[in-house]
Amino acid sequence: MKYLITGGAGFIGTNFIYYMLENHPEYEYVCLDKLTYAGNLANLQKAMEYKNFRFVKGDIADRKFVFDLFEQERFDVVVNFAAESHVDRSIETPDVFLVTNVLGTQVLLDASRKFGVKRFHQISTDEVYGDLPLDRPELKFKETDNLRPSSPYSASKASADLLTLAYYRTYGLPVTISRCSNNYGPYQFPEKLIPLMIINALNDKELPVYGTGQNVRDWIYVTDHCEAVDIILQKGKEGEIYNIGGNCEKKNIDVVRTILEKLGKPESLIKFVKDRPGHDLRYAMDTSKMKEEFGWEPKVSFEKGVEKTIEWYLNNEQWWKEIINGEYLEYYRRMY
Ligand code: NAD
Ligand code: DAU
Repeated sequence: MKYLITGGAGFIGTNFIYYMLENHPEYEYVCLDKLTYAGNLANLQKAMEYKNFRFVKGDIADRKFVFDLFEQERFDVVVNFAAESHVDRSIETPDVFLVTNVLGTQVLLDASRKFGVKRFHQISTDEVYGDLPLDRPELKFKETDNLRPSSPYSASKASADLLTLAYYRTYGLPVTISRCSNNYGPYQFPEKLIPLMIINALNDKELPVYGTGQNVRDWIYVTDHCEAVDIILQKGKEGEIYNIGGNCEKKNIDVVRTILEKLGKPESLIKFVKDRPGHDLRYAMDTSKMKEEFGWEPKVSFEKGVEKTIEWYLNNEQWWKEIINGEYLEYYRRMY
């Protein structure tokens, strides 16, 4: 079996490649990544030592390039992680989100169709469902819920989901979709909440919390997400959508306080800043389908996951120090 993993030089894609190399050494893997600001070839340095892994630099929205690659490689499985992934950047510059997340996905769907891919798996997000109120804890997103995306990012991901389902219904392309909640863990780009707070705290810099910090996210340690995707690839039914979540809802302010406590840093570093426009209030996933159909449940507790994540950032200072200058500094100054 030959897998194409797009976006594999980013956070979750990198973790997925290592998960698969370890758990399915019998398969062959090709990673296709454009190496945007969020893609980092250094993430894949160890993967390059494996004979059954290869990296290809390229853009999923470049039709000719993608079709040539599919013709040469004859992939059995495509897992599409490639995306512009950061909500705040989508508010600043939506265009690139539509090109990569919508048109790029369409190019991959077309190529998968033409070259007879046996499974196309779209990596989606809980954000396609919109948000939930803070005062109705009994409500959770189900796979059958309507899509109500709030940001240009989530609207582009919802569009990609709809295209994926349309290719199943119209052309019979064997697709599956997984929608996951907020991931954290090694290799996450420090524009996202958890790594940004860890790195700022380590540098005794202010920790910018949007609004009042009451917004709720459902956190999942990245390897739990990788395991769930692997199970869906093996056992998932064509045309189906699967919610993946950590069953771990936390207010942002509590996440930030936990990080400060674990690092032994003072709460005086917290700074409440202007809220994100259209800021989703709460995400919560009903993951009963994954549990009932496959017996899957997340394994890593938030306590343990945050400790492992902090340890990784402490042990990989060079990795993040190389990131937090240049384009990152300009972005940071614009944002905060
Ligand atoms: P990331 O931003 O860390 O990585 C994205 C990767 O895609 C980068 O390596 C980038 O270079 C690559 N890429 C971007 N545009 C490309 C293009 N046109 N062609 C080829 N490669 C391109 O993102 P992430 O957090 O690892 O997210 C991966 C996927 O998971 C995304 O589809 C995202 O929507 C989804 N997701 C993320 C989370 C989360 O919490 N991070 C949760 C649920 C779903
Ligand atoms: O829910 C899944 C989604 O999670 C993925 O689809 C996205 O790709 C991923 O980026 C993530 O989106 P969020 O917007 O939830 O993640 P982010 O880390 O940007 O923010 C988490 C929460 O923390 C959110 O309520 C905004 C808040 N926040 C974020 C940053 C960066 C702050 O308060 N301060 C910050 O500096």
